[in-house]
Amino acid sequence: MSQIIVSGGKRLQGSVKISGSKNAALPILAATVLIDESVTIKNVPELRDVNTMLSILQRIGKKVSFEHGVVRIEPGDIIVGTVPYDLVGKMRASFNLFGPLVMACGWAKVGKPGGCNIGQRPVDYHIEGLKQLGIKITEEHGDVHGEIPDMFKSHIEYTLPFRSVGATEQLMTTAALMKGSKIVIKNAAKEPEIVDLQNFLNKAGARISGAGTDTIRIEGVEKLKGTEYRVIPDRIEAGTYLLAGVITRGTVIVEDVVPDHLTALLNALNMMGVKVEIGKNSVKVEASGKLKPVHVSAEPYPGFPTDLQPILTAVLTTVEGESVIEELVFENRFGYVDEINRMGAQIKVKDRRAYIKGIDKLSGTDINAPDIRAAAALVIAGMAADGETTVHNAGHIFRGYEKLREKFMALGAYLRVYPDEE
Ligand code: EPZ
Repeated sequence: MSQIIVSGGKRLQGSVKISGSKNAALPILAATVLIDESVTIKNVPELRDVNTMLSILQRIGKKVSFEHGVVRIEPGDIIVGTVPYDLVGKMRASFNLFGPLVMACGWAKVGKPGGCNIGQRPVDYHIEGLKQLGIKITEEHGDVHGEIPDMFKSHIEYTLPFRSVGATEQLMTTAALMKGSKIVIKNAAKEPEIVDLQNFLNKAGARISGAGTDTIRIEGVEKLKGTEYRVIPDRIEAGTYLLAGVITRGTVIVEDVVPDHLTALLNALNMMGVKVEIGKNSVKVEASGKLKPVHVSAEPYPGFPTDLQPILTAVLTTVEGESVIEELVFENRFGYVDEINRMGAQIKVKDRRAYIKGIDKLSGTDINAPDIRAAAALVIAGMAADGETTVHNAGHIFRGYEKLREKFMALGAYLRVYPDEE
């Protein structure tokens, strides 16, 4: 796996253009199995996870091309209801193909995804929700089998036990083609990526409303049609560059963003005393003054995003006083703390809370990245540290960040990647 070597001590200055959202593009690409006409998706980031999803679509029978951020998907002669296990193991989001494939093929078989470093991550809400929709589901040898029922009930209501992003996307996409049924999903996730998926499906002829609120209503239709759609910008990538600007006490502008999607982060930065300027499609942060410690809870949207939790924690290690970060989405998302503490940070973790005592300066050393967002946190910690930091196992980062080295170098950072995986 890659190493990223970061030379610290440079204040980041300048602007960076934000790419399309990984977590919006993946469920939209999965939903294209419901459409047997041409589909064009624009602003798709060139990332490892996107390529994995496109390989799966090809393997199940779609004709796929991807160039300069534009994905074109043409129907193949047949579509196969089985997702190859070698690819499921690479990316959990491939499980979101399960329900749509059942609708597209009448049956489907998908490997049940395992856990990862941030938590057990079961798919029980997905399976229970699909059963409530009427899909006949059995599990065998680690695979989940699904079959379309003869008839769908006319009215179906399901309340999610937790506002799961993946389960909401799975149920909304599957229900889109349940002709003659009215489906209500309650306690739904409200993330902007859910709204983007609804807008894509409606552009293809679905009848969905309420995404972005905790109640989503779907009126199933017989068929979806080919369409063209542009994916929203990546709010997590944007937040990462803004926080990199703050940890180096620099001035950074992110462009091509939807500022509303960043509200929870910008509120936290305001509380820290960071100067924040919001433009129509841009946000600027300036962190030259003395910063204040904060208490933040990572929660489902519109709460503070769990994907920025490790990155904000890295910043708070350099803010004098005691900050507290609570993680309310994943049960094991502080796996990176020991690594940052190797750089001299003072973080204690107890009962899903990190207690952070700010220090003057982190020191560069060798550290290990357990997942995508932790890798980003360790790389930006290296930017604020004395000397050089070598982040091992850094390849994770290329699953979530497009053109990372180019973008950071444009802001004045200095980092090297071995071997070059970008
Ligand atoms: C999505 O994961 C994102 N991934 C994650 O981003 C993000 O951290 C997460 O939402 C929360 O915002 C993609 O969009 C591809 P959940 P997802 O279902 O859908 C539990 C990144 O770095 N749960 O909202 O898997 C689960 O274990 C990634 O880009 C069940 O118990 O998240 C977790 O504790 C990491 N049973 C909580 O709910 C279920 O059936 C939230 O998970 C489903 C979820």
